[in-house]
Amino acid sequence: MKETKLICNKKFRIGKVDPRIFGSFIEHMGRVVYSGIYEPEHPLSDNMGFRTDVLKLVSEMGVTAVRYPGGNFVSNYDWRDAVGPLESRPTRLNLPWHSTETNRFGINEFIEWSKKADVQPIFTVNLGTKGIENALSFLEYCNHPKNSFYSDLRRKHGIEEPYNIRTWCLGNEMDGDWQIGHKTADEYGRLAQETAKAMKMLDPTVELVLCGSSKSSMETFPDWELITLNYAYNYVDYIAVHQYYGGQEKGTPEFLAQSLDMERYLKTVRAACDLIQVKKHSPKVINISVDEWGVWELPSEEVDLQLKDTNWDQAPAISEQIYTMEDSLLFASMMLTFLKNADRVKIACQSLLTNISACIMTERNGNAWVQPIFYPFSHIAKFGKGEVLNVMQSGPSYETSEFKQVPYVDSVAVYHEDSGEVTLFLVNRCENEKQIVSCELENFNVSGIVEHIQMFSDDKKATNLQDHNRIRPDNNGKSEIKNGMLTAQLEPLSWNVIRIQAE
Ligand code: AHR
Repeated sequence: MKETKLICNKKFRIGKVDPRIFGSFIEHMGRVVYSGIYEPEHPLSDNMGFRTDVLKLVSEMGVTAVRYPGGNFVSNYDWRDAVGPLESRPTRLNLPWHSTETNRFGINEFIEWSKKADVQPIFTVNLGTKGIENALSFLEYCNHPKNSFYSDLRRKHGIEEPYNIRTWCLGNEMDGDWQIGHKTADEYGRLAQETAKAMKMLDPTVELVLCGSSKSSMETFPDWELITLNYAYNYVDYIAVHQYYGGQEKGTPEFLAQSLDMERYLKTVRAACDLIQVKKHSPKVINISVDEWGVWELPSEEVDLQLKDTNWDQAPAISEQIYTMEDSLLFASMMLTFLKNADRVKIACQSLLTNISACIMTERNGNAWVQPIFYPFSHIAKFGKGEVLNVMQSGPSYETSEFKQVPYVDSVAVYHEDSGEVTLFLVNRCENEKQIVSCELENFNVSGIVEHIQMFSDDKKATNLQDHNRIRPDNNGKSEIKNGMLTAQLEPLSWNVIRIQAE
């Protein structure tokens, strides 16, 4: 067995974990909304049509914030279609997802759902087919108290108090040629600057997210960041990062190594923000919102075929991906990368909440169940509160074509002062060997192990599709403390959470 050595010191910390990094994303796409979170005909739905079985799982998952309503969908959306009495809401074509949108579930319903789910709503405005006026009227409807056209419209709709939505994204993936109203960096940079300026005139308390690149492999990355930030720096607060990784066909070692691309991507975006900060002579630091992220299973040709087959149906089942044990390890490592950058990554939205690249799956008029990726998310959301420690690591690694040496063990430590706990999150990327991890906890009084949760399988391709409990964690992990030092054994291809009492 190979050994990885970790050293954490109570005094050396990366940053405080912003609870909004445990966010998710709801888009009007496939069955995410209709029959995902909202299904009035379902026996478990409440009086608003919200599935209570799903609400329960959202709470177990530990989701703190949800971005809405898209996604590519938002670039041809008019919020005005989705407020007020149901009978006056028009039915529209959902162009990117080749379906029909009834607007039965809209802005007012989403806010009610957010209250029940206890999550912070994050809105995206349409900068594809719409622009400044549409963003301003949307903001006025949501946040202005009264005595203006749109705030009074909200009150006419029975909502006296403003929603006070704090975080707004300025469009979606505007760098992508698949986006309706796709723009060059200069076109988008100017539009984002002017939209942000006006939105802050209307409500100076809002925080705004500039569109960054849609993935690290975009040809325009990182010029897009430099150009758009150069326009909008003084008016925005975050820059968005989107990333999905597939590539299961490359084999497990290369597939799991992709979290190193995430690390390099975030480093580059940070550098772009810092460069423009100096150029602007600004005291303001721009933070990062990874407001769409996940593992992607389906080849794009298959998604295209599914879209051709939808017949413009309402809520067709598209892109319903089934995750394996090994997918959950890359998913976990992506999330660990956000923690390692906790000083700059303040928002992250796992994409999407139900049915499409989702932790939670639902059957129409049937059960809800969870995929293997649900567990790392819920563990990190539950035990990853506090401050991320700056862990020093040395240990065995393996060679890949893209990233050269990749450590077998991926690690993060979070210290939660109030509960006197250090939690170690560990992925063993090695397929055929257990790994030994030793961890020195300098300047801590270590009194014991609370639990060692682990998740692994005899089959890396196993899923929860047939047997919904096929992949699930146990707390039989092997670890011990001797003379203040932790030693743990990690199963091959495993996810581990070790909670240590340490003050
Ligand atoms: O799968 C969700 C889609 O992926 C979103 O609509 C878009 O923003 C991204 O490309």
